[in-house]
Amino acid sequence: MISRRTALKLTAAATAITAISPVRLFADPNVAGNYPHQLPALPYAKDALEPHIDGRTMEIHHGKHHKTYVDKLNEALKDYPELQKKSLEELLRGLDSVPEKIRGAVRNHGGGHFNHSLFWQSLAPAGSGGEPSEQIKSAFQELGASAEELQETFFKLATGVFGSGWAWVTVTKAGQVKFEATANQDVPFGPNKAPLIGLDVWEHAYYLQYQNRRADYVKAHHNVINWKFVNARFDALTK
Ligand SMILES: [Fe+2]
Repeated sequence: MISRRTALKLTAAATAITAISPVRLFADPNVAGNYPHQLPALPYAKDALEPHIDGRTMEIHHGKHHKTYVDKLNEALKDYPELQKKSLEELLRGLDSVPEKIRGAVRNHGGGHFNHSLFWQSLAPAGSGGEPSEQIKSAFQELGASAEELQETFFKLATGVFGSGWAWVTVTKAGQVKFEATANQDVPFGPNKAPLIGLDVWEHAYYLQYQNRRADYVKAHHNVINWKFVNARFDALTK
């Protein structure tokens, strides 16, 4: 029989082997990734995703909603020098060690900053985003469904999120993908799991153009996925 100490050591070793490594989120080299957190620039013109996502929505979504998450995250961290040294991902993966007084703010506004920073990069003007890589295709094939069935699964997931939240494809270090949803601005992190593709289904993401027709927005999203970015992120997370 192994002692508790040995068992803990073995668990720690196994976690070290399988834990997924953080991948730099921001393409912009001027965005440091820690305090003071900054709003990354959109990697395309605000109307570049039209007609699938309109420029006015992008302008408000990025310039107002995302900026507010950044500002409120910085406000929450202003009296916590130790937390200011941490990257956004470290903060969000370690929410249990964030003082209770600001934990909710870090979770919501830090999560909002992370999710939107990933979201902008995962979009590209229609026709310019490329195709899923062979590695991604084979990861999806492991789920045992056709490409059409998988698209339908994601559609049902995204249209079925009640209230405000996100629909995700997550990935493990071993390259296993999974569909899941989160509420509010929660990020689907796990010790061996990171978000690969996220779709914002808060009303602020689509209401100006699509009003209550979330289904049309979810269908339109498929036309503007930046597979080149997603392929590179998959490779980095599974290497
Ligand atoms: Fe949003």
